Amino acid sequence: MKGIIFRCLEELVINTKGMDVWEQLLEKHCPEDRVYVSARSYPDEELVGLATSVSQALNLSMPETLKAFGTYLFGFLAKRHTSIVEEFKSFEQLIISIDDVIHQEVQKLYEEPNLPTIEAKIYDEHTIHLVYRSPRKLCFCAEGLIYGCAEHFNKTIKIEHPLCMHNGEKECLLKITHS
Ligand code: HEM
Ligand code: ZN
Repeated sequence: MKGIIFRCLEELVINTKGMDVWEQLLEKHCPEDRVYVSARSYPDEELVGLATSVSQALNLSMPETLKAFGTYLFGFLAKRHTSIVEEFKSFEQLIISIDDVIHQEVQKLYEEPNLPTIEAKIYDEHTIHLVYRSPRKLCFCAEGLIYGCAEHFNKTIKIEHPLCMHNGEKECLLKITHS
C-alpha cells in the first residue's frame, strides 16, 4: 500500500485523537522510526494493524472504520490530485471512470501501485452497479470512497452491498442509488 494512504490515516487520527495516539499506534504496529513517504510502498499488514487499533479506539467495527476512513480518503486524494478529479463534472461520470481513467492515471504517477479492479455501469437514471475485486478485500474502504465522492459533488446517495468477498463471494457488488 502506498504511503499516501498511510499519510491520510495519520492525518485523520491526529486530527481526531491527537498526536500521542498516533505515536502509540506507530509503536505498536510499525518498525522503529517509521515515516510514510507518499510514493513509496509499505506492507498491507501495517495498514490493517493500524486500522484495527483505530477501530478499537473509536469503538467501531472494522467495516465502519474502513468506511469512515474511505470517506475521508476521497477528499484527501482529491486535494492532492486536483487535475485528475477536476476532469469530472458529475458524481456518476466519476464513478464510471474509476478504473479506466482515475486508476489509469495513478498507474502513470506511482510505481507499481496495487489497485483493485472496478467495473461500474449505469444501471438506470438513479442507479450504478459497481463490481469490486481485489486480493486486499478493501470493499468497505471503496464504499467510503464512494460516499466521499458523493460529498464532493453535494449528492446524497445510498449503497447496498448484497454480494461480498468477506462472505465468500469471488467479488463484491455495490448498488449505488443517487438522486
Ligand atoms: C487505491 C477505490 C478514487 C488513487 C484504492 C483502493 C480502493 C480504491 C478500494 C485500495 C486498494 C484495493 O482495494 O486493492 C477507489 C474508489 C474511488 C477511487 C471507489 C472513487 C470513488 C481515487 C482517486 C485517486 C485514487 C480520485 C487519486 C487521484 C488511489 C491510490 C491508491 C488507490 C494512489 C493506492 C494504491 C497503492 O497503495 O498501491 N482505490 N478509488 N483513487 N487509489 Fe483509488
Ligand atoms: Zn465486499
